[in-house]
Amino acid sequence: MAAKGRIPQYFIDDLLSRVDIVDVINRRVSLKKTGKNYSARCPFHDEKTPSFSVNPDKQFYYCFGCGAGGNAIGFLMDYERQDFPGAVDNLAHIAGLEVPREDLSPQQQVKQERRKTIYDLMEQVSAYYQKQLRSDAQSQRAVDYLKRRGLSGRIARDFNIGFAPPGWDNLLKTFGDTEEHKQQLIDAGMLIEKEDGKLYDRFRDRIMFPIRDNRGRVIAFGGRVLGDDKPKYLNSPETDIFHKGKELYGLYQARQNNRHLEQLLVVEGYMDVVALAQHGIMTGIATLGTASNTEHLRTAFRYASELIFCFDGDDAGRKAAERALENALPVMEDGRRIRFLFLPEGDDPDSVVNRDGPAGFQKLLAGAAPLERYFFESLYDQTDPDTLEGKARLSKLALPRLQLLPDGVFRQLMLDSLAERTGLSRQSVDTLLSQQQPVVEPEDTPAPKVPEQRRSTQKLTAKLPGGRRDPLLFALAMLLFNPKGAATSPTSIANEDDSAAASLLNSTIALLRKRPNSSTAMLLGHWYGQPEYEVMTEALKTIELLGTELNDEKAETAFFDTLAHLDAQKSTATLRSHVDKLRVSNEVDKPESANYAELSEADKQQLLTIQQLLKQKHRL
Ligand code: GTP
Ligand code: MN
Repeated sequence: MAAKGRIPQYFIDDLLSRVDIVDVINRRVSLKKTGKNYSARCPFHDEKTPSFSVNPDKQFYYCFGCGAGGNAIGFLMDYERQDFPGAVDNLAHIAGLEVPREDLSPQQQVKQERRKTIYDLMEQVSAYYQKQLRSDAQSQRAVDYLKRRGLSGRIARDFNIGFAPPGWDNLLKTFGDTEEHKQQLIDAGMLIEKEDGKLYDRFRDRIMFPIRDNRGRVIAFGGRVLGDDKPKYLNSPETDIFHKGKELYGLYQARQNNRHLEQLLVVEGYMDVVALAQHGIMTGIATLGTASNTEHLRTAFRYASELIFCFDGDDAGRKAAERALENALPVMEDGRRIRFLFLPEGDDPDSVVNRDGPAGFQKLLAGAAPLERYFFESLYDQTDPDTLEGKARLSKLALPRLQLLPDGVFRQLMLDSLAERTGLSRQSVDTLLSQQQPVVEPEDTPAPKVPEQRRSTQKLTAKLPGGRRDPLLFALAMLLFNPKGAATSPTSIANEDDSAAASLLNSTIALLRKRPNSSTAMLLGHWYGQPEYEVMTEALKTIELLGTELNDEKAETAFFDTLAHLDAQKSTATLRSHVDKLRVSNEVDKPESANYAELSEADKQQLLTIQQLLKQKHRL
């Protein structure tokens, strides 16, 4: 297919600066002026009271109810169900402009093709693995294995489960006919390159689970051995299109099955998701062998208002639950629910549903503990709430966590509950809470260079119950609000965090280097249709929460403050991890320890330097 010439960026920028988003929206949804902004009942979801607002200064819209947000082009795309070029045509028509198209340079054409082909390639590879499950000479073992695990052909098809036959070069021979194709397979993580340059298949003799992004594109695979060999699972490495820390296995299928999900079950494994689906429970999602992080939870909550975590009843399960709780608190906005289910020891959702059927599993689900109950009961394990001391300890343990909750009714109810459980008055609970350290303040920020500026950021973030937990998102929001204010920012932020907010912050900074005159609306337009866009709308929310508190100057200050804070955090984290590594590999803590003698001179030197640095930071 010949690529249609792109609409040049200068034209889109020009268009956005000529049309007024208030006009565009007001023609379709009647807007009311409320203060500086305009508001209306949101056209994208049912609601009785208006939570949709339009910001005329920054030319964007945002809905607190459903999280929709964007610039004028995005509004038309969603409201009129147009694609990007369609929405641009539509706006250009209003503005009386002709839409120019540019010729693609040969390099651009290649790049566009490549992007497309890496997804195409993954789709083809997935089809190949599925075909091998049906027809490879060795596949009977794989089919038998799946049958033994209780899976039907139909469910295997629904999840596109396949089989990577034994052998080192099946993919290589099938898809690696040219140098270019070989390179693509390497980029996609499907081939491994040995030191001598020889290539071989990453996945061999494994059941293959394709991992899809939320648009349904195959971006990676998980592969399971047929027996008890180790490692049991092999996952694709991180690639341009696969970021392990943010994908949820099964989410695409759950959404395909039901566009209006009320509930999602967060389980641990691929097999749990598939086995539940086999029994008609099409709401399982799983992280890819990592603990669920805040970003996973934000994603899941975008599609369902209740999440139920299913954990094993053993120690590992309880640990995982604790981490999940920590990550969940900041995203517990009103209207969202979380429950915790602990399965009997030795069970997982797969084994329960296969043994007790869907009804048996549902029965367990019905008994899942609401967040409130789990929260306090898990603290009871560490205190005796019947004694005075225990009550004091309870409030001490609970308050820093409750402080993570965003403002809202749920937070108030949790504080009420703490008051009740400790016998403290609600007023005392509030007083204790206000004496807590603000969470965003790092334990180890160096003395601020410009004290007034720090105060101004503190004041801003104090208004952000959920947002202040995530400095990256906050920095992104400040950058989005006042793009020009970041003109002198560093090339990229010093953070190795692979979260979407981190990479988006970096790419936004890079974009601003190329186009320093971009406005908020222009920046928003850049990520339509891409996964990053959802993070952008989170940033819009942060901006809207700050309301009139925020202006260009404050945004600029807050942006640089937050970068400095991240920097400080990172240098401490790096030092700590060096020490941890040295400790683990050598079990040395102190020079007098036995293993110290076995360290190389260089390591000793490094250890000494680090210890000194850490001491300076009062960390040892
Ligand atoms: P079955 O043992 O076949 O029932 O698979 P499961 O999906 O139930 O796996 P399990 O509960 O043991 O592990 C949960 C998830 O952790 C898996 O789905 C994988 O994503 C991940 N995982 C487990 N073992 C490994 C491993 O050896 N390597 C990697 N990379 N991930 C693993
Ligand atoms: Mn299992």
